[in-house]
Amino acid sequence: MEKINAVITGVGGYVPDYILTNDEISKMVDTTDEWIMGRIGIKERRILHEEGLGTSYMARKAAKQLMQRTNSQPDEIDLVIVATTTPDYRLPSTASILCERLGLKRAFAFDVQAVCSGFLYALETGANFIRSGNYKKIIVVGAEKMSSIIDYTDRATCPIFGDGAAAFMLEPTTEDLGVMDSVLRTDGKGLPFLHIKAGGSVCTPSYYTLENHMHYIYQEGRTVFKYAVANMANACEAVIERNHLSKDDIDWVIPHQANQRIITAVTQRLEIPTEKVMVNIERYGNTSAATLPLCIWDFEDKLKKGDNLIFTAFGAGFAWGAIYVKWGYDGKKEQ
Ligand code: UT7
Repeated sequence: MEKINAVITGVGGYVPDYILTNDEISKMVDTTDEWIMGRIGIKERRILHEEGLGTSYMARKAAKQLMQRTNSQPDEIDLVIVATTTPDYRLPSTASILCERLGLKRAFAFDVQAVCSGFLYALETGANFIRSGNYKKIIVVGAEKMSSIIDYTDRATCPIFGDGAAAFMLEPTTEDLGVMDSVLRTDGKGLPFLHIKAGGSVCTPSYYTLENHMHYIYQEGRTVFKYAVANMANACEAVIERNHLSKDDIDWVIPHQANQRIITAVTQRLEIPTEKVMVNIERYGNTSAATLPLCIWDFEDKLKKGDNLIFTAFGAGFAWGAIYVKWGYDGKKEQ
């Protein structure tokens, strides 16, 4: 029997219209456009600021576009996986809300929570369902309303994050294409350096936690930066070596968009020239689980069937990894 692999057959995306500029952030906290551009590389980020809208709103827009571009009908979708750290509700899953909003009748759905590495984990999970032979169309979404967990009085975190969503369709193939290999890792020692202190089962919400801004992201940036560079570079090297790829064989590196300096450090270690590195951090900031598919959404027209892509991410946990993908089609699939 021929081996079945999971190939990406399309991408859809969505970012909110509202643009939060560095100049506006400079009015909220003691910072400057120069500092943010120089230290992080972000010019602006998108914010979903309409009241009553959550992550599933953006996920639905991205998934709708994906279904149009891949000519997929609601009753063809077998599974929906949503990578998110900013679910609409503590329960049920955002994926279940998305199923309803997309009118899916015979799918099952769940969320994956691995923060900035969520999309990597979700992509490999979805690929394995396809490889089982039992599933034909799987939607993998990365979607985040990071603005809902950011303290806009904290200059150390508020310039970094933005909102957005993007999604891939996974389908079976017997061609030598698709999600080829992954190196995924987790080290729980990262907890003190990047977390949200309250709102979970250890520290439930109270007036005290609200007054002390404990429902927002806390980060020791310098420590996270060091681990991010070393671990993303190591994961990429491991997956490149295991698949006997030379540096010249790699057409694109798609790094998590957390900091332009992290992206530069990782790709320099890998000796990958900047023209092969997808970067859109300047326009969207760090959209956590959405950064990787949003890069593909932006750069899709440049991709060719058979291109070798290395996706890599690092985030809270710590959780990180790299995935090797052979791209499935030429150019942009229009709506
Ligand atoms: O996606 C999840 C994973 N997260 C990451 O990968 C993020 C990794 N870390 C980073 O990207 C960087 O560490 C940050 C962007 C978060 C911070 O940049 P940094 O160059 O590491 O700055 P720092 O935290 O070491 O702070 C340097 C100085 C400090 O002042 P002092 O103590 O030296 O006087 C900060 O108070 O910069 C100050 N600072 C700012 N100044 C102006 C911190 N934030 C700001 C700001 N504007 N927004």
